[in-house]
Amino acid sequence: MGEHKRIGILTSGGDCAGLNAAIRAVVHSAVNTYGWEVFGIRQATQGLMERPPQAISLTPDKVDPYLTTGGTFLGTTNKGNPFAFPMADGSVCDRSYEIIEGYRMLGLDALIGIGGDGSLAILRRLAQQGGINLVGIPKTIDNDVGVTECSIGFDTAVSVATEAVDRLQFTAASHNRVMILEVMGRDAGHIAMWAGIAGGADIILIPEIPYTLEGICQHIKKRQQQGKNYCLIVIAEAVRTEAGDRVVVAEHPENCRLGGIGQYLSQEICRMIGAETRVTVLGHIQRGGMPSHSDRLIATAFGVAAVELIAKEKYDHVVTWQKRHVVCVPIEEAINQYSTVNPNGTLATTARRMGIFLGS
Ligand code: F6P
Repeated sequence: MGEHKRIGILTSGGDCAGLNAAIRAVVHSAVNTYGWEVFGIRQATQGLMERPPQAISLTPDKVDPYLTTGGTFLGTTNKGNPFAFPMADGSVCDRSYEIIEGYRMLGLDALIGIGGDGSLAILRRLAQQGGINLVGIPKTIDNDVGVTECSIGFDTAVSVATEAVDRLQFTAASHNRVMILEVMGRDAGHIAMWAGIAGGADIILIPEIPYTLEGICQHIKKRQQQGKNYCLIVIAEAVRTEAGDRVVVAEHPENCRLGGIGQYLSQEICRMIGAETRVTVLGHIQRGGMPSHSDRLIATAFGVAAVELIAKEKYDHVVTWQKRHVVCVPIEEAINQYSTVNPNGTLATTARRMGIFLGS
């Protein structure tokens, strides 16, 4: 069974469906297989800044009810970089030492961090500075962590977005409208591409492929000439205006909030060809709700594999999904390999052959 360990687990960055399934798997595996203790840290690294550090003891009985729930019952944050922590007086302060001290105060032997590339980069820097034995689990609805074929949360987000396309189709056809669905994904168009193909969209716009408004309008008119009275457009939030400007809801020093490109497109289409358009911004619905079976499964496999890495004392690694297997790779690789949609890859080719207009 090896030596007894006390391990900590935290969720960091934006929440998504499947986080609780991963926490549950870690607890089951660590407690039942190895007899270790597991502590859930509240609100990402902020729980380690608190005094006393905010952590709760986790047992299989406590975590079991969370398998099917969305969000993270530990809480999380996608703000408050500890190396430049925003203080109440407007200044920023390096609070990394407090986090490392909090980790020591809990008497932890290792830490499992569930996060996207940004969170994993911060956690790794903390681990290197403070000698923390860190293992990572990738999560993000954006699916932009390049070393893994899928991250926790992506499948659920795509399912939600696909259902939205399905629902919009009927109302679009009933009213002869151009329906625009704006989806999340930050700088990667994975959600838009997957949901657009799966839902049978007519036009998919992603940041990786340039477009012209003229091309989009021509495609809508061509459909009208073919007797197709409506058009479904899926657009990723990071698509820029034709002039190349980013459309944001709010600027934020750490993390600008994207949003509004759907409305821009709607106005331009209406101006250019007079088509009646409506916009749906799917927003955080993509992050919430019950995790899909696939997200639960990946999360469970990742949780078990992360515990195995700690048992082998193979730190500074992240678990990934590759060709039906969990494979561990150095966290550094996970941070450095950003995945976007290949404009000439399988999905883009599939979409084009299915008659879906991609903007160019
Ligand atoms: O990275 C996940 C994500 O949902 C992005 O797709 C989106 O742009 C962003 O987070 C939204 O962040 P917030 O929850 O701060 O609005």
